[in-house]
Amino acid sequence: MKIVLLGAQGQLGLTLQQTLPPAGHEVIALTRAELDISNESQLRARLSEIKPDAIINAAAYTAVDAAEQDDLTARAANAAGPKYLASWAAENQTWLLHISTDFVFSGRMYRPYTPTDQTDPLSIYGRTKLEGELHVRYLAPANSLVLRTSWVYSQFGRNFLKTMLRLMAEKDSLSVVDDQIGTPTSTWGLARCIDAALQHKPAGILHWSDAGVASWYDFAVAIQDEALRAGLLYKAVPIRAIPGTAYPTPAKRPSFSVLDKQDTIAQLHCAPEHWRHELVKVINAMRNS
Ligand SMILES: NC(=O)c1ccc[n+]([C@@H]2O[C@H](COP(=O)([O-])OP(=O)(O)OC[C@H]3O[C@@H](n4cnc5c(N)ncnc54)[C@H](OP(=O)(O)O)[C@@H]3O)[C@@H](O)[C@H]2O)c1
Repeated sequence: MKIVLLGAQGQLGLTLQQTLPPAGHEVIALTRAELDISNESQLRARLSEIKPDAIINAAAYTAVDAAEQDDLTARAANAAGPKYLASWAAENQTWLLHISTDFVFSGRMYRPYTPTDQTDPLSIYGRTKLEGELHVRYLAPANSLVLRTSWVYSQFGRNFLKTMLRLMAEKDSLSVVDDQIGTPTSTWGLARCIDAALQHKPAGILHWSDAGVASWYDFAVAIQDEALRAGLLYKAVPIRAIPGTAYPTPAKRPSFSVLDKQDTIAQLHCAPEHWRHELVKVINAMRNS
């Protein structure tokens, strides 16, 4: 199988470059400089030249707050790009795995969100990602999978884990929001799910995150504990739990975005590990790198 990986320079893309391919497959990993998914003619020419059997779209505009002032760029990457990809994939009967987000939901739910729950994004980022999902499912219904995930982090790129480690080393104390609830997701766990999806090639919408739930405050406390244990930090700083109202951001975020993964576990035979176990693995990898 020939697999094209888009967004190869992002945190998920860099992880997949290490975990893919399953034996005997060829992966063509393309950065934004090599293929801008919002450029339809470039995308069509490049994909027609490669003739992949599967496409993984890990490319996205992920700067959630910046998107509030940059609607056009966010929409080009998150809505137009997936539309062009799905259109090419449908015409060429190529399976497309498109990564999406918990931010398509409003957060007003009282239980984990299932793939069929009503979407209602609160931000430009969430709206553009939802538009991308809709294009993918409409244009390539039989051969596309939208895989929604949440709170993604890794040792690569920019993410909450790396921001916390930097601030914990620099500051004397931290304040972290404790009334937004979700599930951290390590790119290693997500890559395992993507590997399983490549084997089964299902169509539809599925959810993936690590197991368990947490607030950003819980996640920050765990990061400090594990980083101290691993020797990535040398001193503990007090971490204060604050409400989201005390930390206003340009983009609104869902207050609850836990994803229900039962369908994924049943269809892909792949179960997530608890987020705390995944965190230990990522921190150990950072220590050893
Ligand atoms: N990060 C999270 O917390 C989170 C949560 C839920 C879902 N997700 C989803 O998970 C997926 C992977 O996210 P990630 O955290 O790995 O993101 P990331 O680290 O920001 O990587 C995204 C990559 O996409 C590239 N890109 C942006 N616009 C592009 C375009 N027009 N054409 C081609 N490439 C383009 C970026 O290139 P540049 O670096 O050059 O901009 C970057 O390398 C995305 O679909 C995201 O929406 C992420």
